[in-house]
Amino acid sequence: MIKKKIIKYWLLIFFFNWYIFILLYIFIHETITDYLKDIMKKKILVAGGAGFIGFHLCKKLIRNNIVFCVDNLSTGNINNVKELQNNNNFYFIKKNIQKKFNITCDEIYNLACPASPNKYQKNPIDTIKTNVFGSINLLDIAKKNKAKIFQASTSEIYGDPLVHPQNEKYRGNVNITGVRACYDEGKRIAESLFFDYNRSANIKIKVARIFNTYGPYMNTDDGRVVSNFIVSALQNKPLLINGDGSQTRSFCYVDDTIKGIIKLMNSGKNILGPINIGSTNEKTILFLAKKIIQMTNSKSKIFFNDFKADDPIKRKPDVKLANKILKWKEKTSLEDGIKKTIEYFKKI
Ligand SMILES: NC(=O)c1ccc[n+]([C@@H]2O[C@H](COP(=O)([O-])OP(=O)(O)OC[C@H]3O[C@@H](n4cnc5c(N)ncnc54)[C@H](O)[C@@H]3O)[C@@H](O)[C@H]2O)c1
Repeated sequence: MIKKKIIKYWLLIFFFNWYIFILLYIFIHETITDYLKDIMKKKILVAGGAGFIGFHLCKKLIRNNIVFCVDNLSTGNINNVKELQNNNNFYFIKKNIQKKFNITCDEIYNLACPASPNKYQKNPIDTIKTNVFGSINLLDIAKKNKAKIFQASTSEIYGDPLVHPQNEKYRGNVNITGVRACYDEGKRIAESLFFDYNRSANIKIKVARIFNTYGPYMNTDDGRVVSNFIVSALQNKPLLINGDGSQTRSFCYVDDTIKGIIKLMNSGKNILGPINIGSTNEKTILFLAKKIIQMTNSKSKIFFNDFKADDPIKRKPDVKLANKILKWKEKTSLEDGIKKTIEYFKKI
């Protein structure tokens, strides 16, 4: 009887020890893997991360990386930051990139610059300073950290293009002294700075020329055509077109633009850009207005204002380079993208 009891206790102790041992093993294994995962995560600085495209980019990057979002919130949205701050991989630093600073990082995305004509023309000298001093400061951080750096350039560097569609070799037709020059010329000098830092200091650069991008999380008061039309149509207010509406744009859904940006950042070391990222589905502004009225079942009427100074007549990228080098193609149809954007604006 006593013998049986002793055996039972021994067996209990034996299995209990194994149980403890397995638990201890799992605990140590998990802690070490978490620690290794954490130290292996890339540290990425996203300048302009609180803005429309920046928000979507940060949201994607925080899945596997530590993201430092640097933004002065001049056109960015604090609610975007609050949404991202739920994730432990996201850090927000309120800062103007025109001032020198440093952050230890492996990669830098520069998206800091107002992108809507209303916003960048409001304080044109500040727009130029952001593009010139801001780019220099970020390039210096890249130099210090030996980090790779991406520049969000724009189709606006082609100005009112005389070549159609616009390929990367076309040097553009910008009115140097016009009201849009603070943005167009600012972005052109930023591109020059990136290539000069690459040539003189061997900085690893990636330059994308982004064409009109739209989607959820655009600001309601942004002043850009897609958000303007949707917000007005949902309130049955007039849709105002500058000019006769025959000017064209090619609208790319934000998820597709983000994929292109990340593909370029992760491309081979000899690929510097510039590379066009945008939709080739060219439409007139009048078509867009009618489409949005139809898709929102709106009672809005279309009105025509004066044509805005230097507003490009035609805009369509040649994306052969992005197709070939990055294997990138837009996936979202205009109809699907507009539908998702309408749903977003209905909710807010
Ligand atoms: N959205 C488009 O269709 C489009 C097209 C071509 C290029 N781009 C480029 O992509 C980038 C992002 O565009 P977006 O549509 O998200 O614009 P956005 O205005 O929504 O975002 C820009 C962000 O930069 C921040 N910012 C501006 N100046 C700053 C400064 N000095 N210091 C720190 N932060 C500053 C703003 O607060 C904002 O959060 C811009 O550089 C823009 O030129 C956008």
